[in-house]
Amino acid sequence: MIVLGIETSCDETAAAVITDQREILSSVVLSQLEEHAVFGGVVPEIAARAHLSSLDGIIQAALSDADVTLNDLDGVAATCGPGLIGGLLVGAVTGKALSSTMNIPFLAINHLEGHALTPRLTDNIAFPYLLLLVSGGHTQILAVEDVGKYKRWGTTLDDAAGECFDKCAKLLGLPFPGGPNLEKTAALCPDHTAARAKFPLPAPMKGRKNCDFSFSGLKTSVRNYVDKTIKHTEIEYLAYSFQETMADTIADRCLVAMTRFRENFNVATPTLVVAGGVSANKAIRTRLTQTASQCGMSLYAPPLSLCGDNAAMIAWAGIERLRLGLTDPLDFKARPRWPLDATAEPRLGAGVKA
Ligand code: KG4
Ligand code: ZN
Repeated sequence: MIVLGIETSCDETAAAVITDQREILSSVVLSQLEEHAVFGGVVPEIAARAHLSSLDGIIQAALSDADVTLNDLDGVAATCGPGLIGGLLVGAVTGKALSSTMNIPFLAINHLEGHALTPRLTDNIAFPYLLLLVSGGHTQILAVEDVGKYKRWGTTLDDAAGECFDKCAKLLGLPFPGGPNLEKTAALCPDHTAARAKFPLPAPMKGRKNCDFSFSGLKTSVRNYVDKTIKHTEIEYLAYSFQETMADTIADRCLVAMTRFRENFNVATPTLVVAGGVSANKAIRTRLTQTASQCGMSLYAPPLSLCGDNAAMIAWAGIERLRLGLTDPLDFKARPRWPLDATAEPRLGAGVKA
């Protein structure tokens, strides 16, 4: 079984070809970084136009890298939400057109499900597992029980983790994209103890019994330092203290979730999976590995090429759904908001991030 995946929900135009034997035959990702960098963030209208002008070529490149033609495809999977509606429409309409002309099934994929199922593509991880999804738009902890069966145990009450990285990087005067640049700056800090002593930061929600997150207070504390006390030479210290505080907070929230997971599921090798763009951060990965082992769980983090947005994860989610006969009609509407757990209560203030 061979499926073409299409991803256009934010600022990456991507296409990939995957088999049901878990082979990534091709994965092409075109970042729009330069188009948006001058504005310091993603501009939805620019993103939509850039997807429109490059998607056809990216699909052709993915087919040719995989050495297949449209005739070899058993299905086409396109991200239909959540995300920026202009980009979603470009990907969804393209996917539907290919499905209709080639007379093959169409699979409308939830972008978050793409991240959630990635460990099954790369390492054949069995259900159930615990998922920490940390990206620019979402920060959630979910119990992944099966394809399409997700229980949201925790979510952010305000900003997403990647958003907090990006906003704090901006406050520190670092260029877009904030997260990776903040990690690079923190790595230059020469004295870790001094950094935390000089710039102590509150670890939001730490010690609470639930699995929710909150990042806006942390951002305000960083802003206060930037406004009042920081010298130009101290940016690396504040970046380090911030990153460690993020790691503390995220690990603390996962600790609660892992204890709950072990109480709820009796599995031989309980696994915490971390996915989404922020899972590329090495300090966070290291901290989560330690915390997971304290709980008798192992941490799985996808390879860096599959942490950020890509179409391999969309094609794989397509394969998982196609195998179960979960295909979608051509009038399926793209959805800017599309929670993975439709039964979870919305959280005040969290908006699309819940
Ligand atoms: O999953 P993703 O590529 O796109 C969304 O679906 O949002 O995540 C992008 C987010 C951005 O906020 C980016 O700054 C953050 O992930 N990010 C990082 C790192 N690499 C990407 N944050 C911290 N450290 C990194 N190394
Ligand atoms: Zn993503």
